[in-house]
Amino acid sequence: MKIGIIGCGTIANSAHIPNYLNNPDAEIKYFCDIIPEKAEECVKKYGCGIAVTDYHDVINDPEVAAVSVCTPNLMHPQIAIDAMRAGKDVLCEKPSARTLKEAEEMLKVHRETGRILNIGVVNRFNDNVRLIKKYIDDGKLGEVYHVYVSFRAHRSIPGLGGAFTTKAIAGGGTLIDWGVHYLDIVMYCTGDPKAKTVSGETFCKLGKDMPNYVYKDMWSEVTKDLNGTYDVDDFVTAFIRTSGPTITINGSWAQNIGIADSYIDFLGTKAGIRLIYGGDFTVWGVKDGKLTEEKPAFEKNNAFNAELRAFVDCVRSGEKLPSHIDRNILTSKIMQGIYDSSMADREIVF
Ligand SMILES: NC(=O)c1ccc[n+]([C@@H]2O[C@H](COP(=O)([O-])OP(=O)(O)OC[C@H]3O[C@@H](n4cnc5c(N)ncnc54)[C@H](O)[C@@H]3O)[C@@H](O)[C@H]2O)c1
Repeated sequence: MKIGIIGCGTIANSAHIPNYLNNPDAEIKYFCDIIPEKAEECVKKYGCGIAVTDYHDVINDPEVAAVSVCTPNLMHPQIAIDAMRAGKDVLCEKPSARTLKEAEEMLKVHRETGRILNIGVVNRFNDNVRLIKKYIDDGKLGEVYHVYVSFRAHRSIPGLGGAFTTKAIAGGGTLIDWGVHYLDIVMYCTGDPKAKTVSGETFCKLGKDMPNYVYKDMWSEVTKDLNGTYDVDDFVTAFIRTSGPTITINGSWAQNIGIADSYIDFLGTKAGIRLIYGGDFTVWGVKDGKLTEEKPAFEKNNAFNAELRAFVDCVRSGEKLPSHIDRNILTSKIMQGIYDSSMADREIVF
């Protein structure tokens, strides 16, 4: 199966390309980047494919079955929509788009064309997350009535003044960049409930004074541009009512607290689970009149590997994966609700 990579930056090189190369059923035919050197570098480094700068060259090739969209968020909808209309199946990096309206347009074109549109919510392929979903589906937690989400880091804004901190490109900051993964885990594990109301507030505080921002981490330093723009949220807080549990989130790329707190607490009537993001989870319950605490043992898998493999397989089989746009749209709706609630200074009722 011939694949096109569109956008040859960090996520393409760290996750998509190596996992296609490892898959005997996939062959990368194109590396596309608007910066020609980046596409050419991939051809040289991986010893395969053709370097191009215009994604239309990729999607107009009848031999290409599927594409990975690994560009900044701004271009996700246009490229995914054009690719589906050209008859290609698509794995588009998260978030699907900058706004709910754009994501809905992507969903509409998926429905019109029947093409696959998976979003890169990779945690749905994490074995620990899948195990938590199974615990909940099997009733081990009883009724899950609330989920508490924390993704708070100590001064860790990506690429100040670059694509991630420019609203016109990214659509938002820590909520749309990190929150999308955390909310997606909650949605997946609790059966993709529908949002009923959202009340939230987003703050653009610590990164605003870019020259004086002192930081601990900046994983996207390569895009740093102190003459660029910083107009996105670096802290978000929200309360969400859904057809399932209520959800509270507190998330920040940067806060003046020197401890990173990245976890999701599932509160159930029979048991509760704390998942450390990217790590293990603990289950607290009661057995034979005694309190229990258990850390289930499981083999950690490589979620990106599983995600990319599942994508190639579903292009062949037509099977819909749990990361498909028609599920992911529910998370987009919540994120849009939080931004809208913050702007309007009131609760949003769906
Ligand atoms: N799943 C995850 O955990 C995860 C992790 C990191 C990034 N991401 C997502 O991946 C996307 C890319 O992030 P990144 O960190 O790799 O960014 P990056 O800046 O490193 O790479 C993006 C690349 O896209 C290229 N590009 C821009 N417009 C293009 C166009 N029209 N056609 C072709 N190429 C184009 C840029 O030149 C750049 O090389 C973002 O949406 C981000 O949210 C997901």
